[in-house]
Amino acid sequence: MKNIVAVIDAGGRGSALVDAYAKSDKVDEIIAIPGNDLMQINTKKKVRIFPHLKTTSKIEILKICKEYKVALVDIAQENAILAGVSDLLRKNNFKVFGPSRKAGQIEWDKSYAREFMLKYNLPAPKFWVFSNHSRAEKFLKSKPEQPFVIKASGLAEGKGVIIAQNIAQALNAVSEMARFGSSGETFLIEEFLEGEEFSSYAISDGKTFQYIASAQDHKRVFDGDKGLNTGGMGCSTPPLVINSNIQNQISDIFNRTFEGLKKENRPYSGILYLGGIVAKNKVNIIEFNARWGDPEVECILPGIKNDWFDVALSIAQDQFDKTKVNYNGKARIVVAAASKGYPGDYSNVKGKVINGFDNLIKTPGIKLYGAGVKEVGGRYLANGGRLFYVVAEGKNVIGARKKAYEALEKVFISGENGENLLHYRKDIGYRDVARLSK
Ligand code: AMP
Ligand code: GLY
Repeated sequence: MKNIVAVIDAGGRGSALVDAYAKSDKVDEIIAIPGNDLMQINTKKKVRIFPHLKTTSKIEILKICKEYKVALVDIAQENAILAGVSDLLRKNNFKVFGPSRKAGQIEWDKSYAREFMLKYNLPAPKFWVFSNHSRAEKFLKSKPEQPFVIKASGLAEGKGVIIAQNIAQALNAVSEMARFGSSGETFLIEEFLEGEEFSSYAISDGKTFQYIASAQDHKRVFDGDKGLNTGGMGCSTPPLVINSNIQNQISDIFNRTFEGLKKENRPYSGILYLGGIVAKNKVNIIEFNARWGDPEVECILPGIKNDWFDVALSIAQDQFDKTKVNYNGKARIVVAAASKGYPGDYSNVKGKVINGFDNLIKTPGIKLYGAGVKEVGGRYLANGGRLFYVVAEGKNVIGARKKAYEALEKVFISGENGENLLHYRKDIGYRDVARLSK
């Protein structure tokens, strides 16, 4: 039988999902909305992209799903969940992998998420919710001695969080919330947690759930976790900070979260991302996301041994109790390659040729996932901030990262003065490399 799957995403996450669905014997064709130019490189199966659409183009997405009679729609991006794409498709009897808007509120409304954590006694920092700037300023002045985290309650592409070291920075952060438009109208002030971060993933059909795996993202743009926060510059799996004690805490958090969401009449169907932080052997929750992490998914999805179409369909049909997800826990690393200047201005890189990209595509032992790369007449051009991701596997993170960095050495974007305008961090996986080197 011919099955067409639709993936709603544009970036590396969508590319990894397209790759996973394309590997299934039951899938003949994939539609990616909007998709990107590199989604075809990992498969001979047809990948149709719709670059003129957005992940939130609800009506057009529905029309395409009807036209191609898609067997399954994977809603991979948070904006699409907030826009109600999953609800509209379900109402039209499509099989959907991804939470309802109501269940996804755990990501798109951080104040709701923190209240939920409080109600279900989940480990989280102290927090205070504001929608009035002068009240927030008064509050901060009454507690001048602490570092605080100020964050927009709504979606802000990972850029809505400001860590304030002192009262002046905190007051400034409050006024910055206006920059996030409606996402920053309500904002939170949180206790600052110090520790080692990780991301963990579990899938549920709203009835049962299974833990899949964890990874460690590197959010800052420069080596040594310096510079601005980005969507993620690379990650490694499995994070060695997760010992059996931490793993038990993670499983307990997932269990109580899925149970809590059921009680709230928001059964969660799809992948749930727990952003956690470990301090003194205790896990605290930074956030929940209603989707895979990007780039985390690029190193976790290749480890799932099952036919991913079968797994996703069993979720969409509420039959996950009959599935057992088998995972290959080998070490994998993802390095994100970006335009120099990202997450700030990278306009001088846009349109430039990525040299050596043809060879990178052919390099054995690595996997390549695209995001902001445009293919024009067989040449590959920079067309965004995060351009592409190199994934490598190894016995441990040291071996995996050697392969990824060797492959990247041959790739560059020439600047006017001979400088390389391709930027990537050279220290992905550094925590576990240090642990293993001891
Ligand atoms: P988020 O957008 O919620 O993922 O936050 C972005 C980053 O801000 C996280 O990865 C953390 O590094 C940091 N962060 C958010 N909340 C806190 C907190 N309460 N304490 C310490 N760091 C935080
Ligand atoms: N890599 C972090 C995220 O996807 O939010």
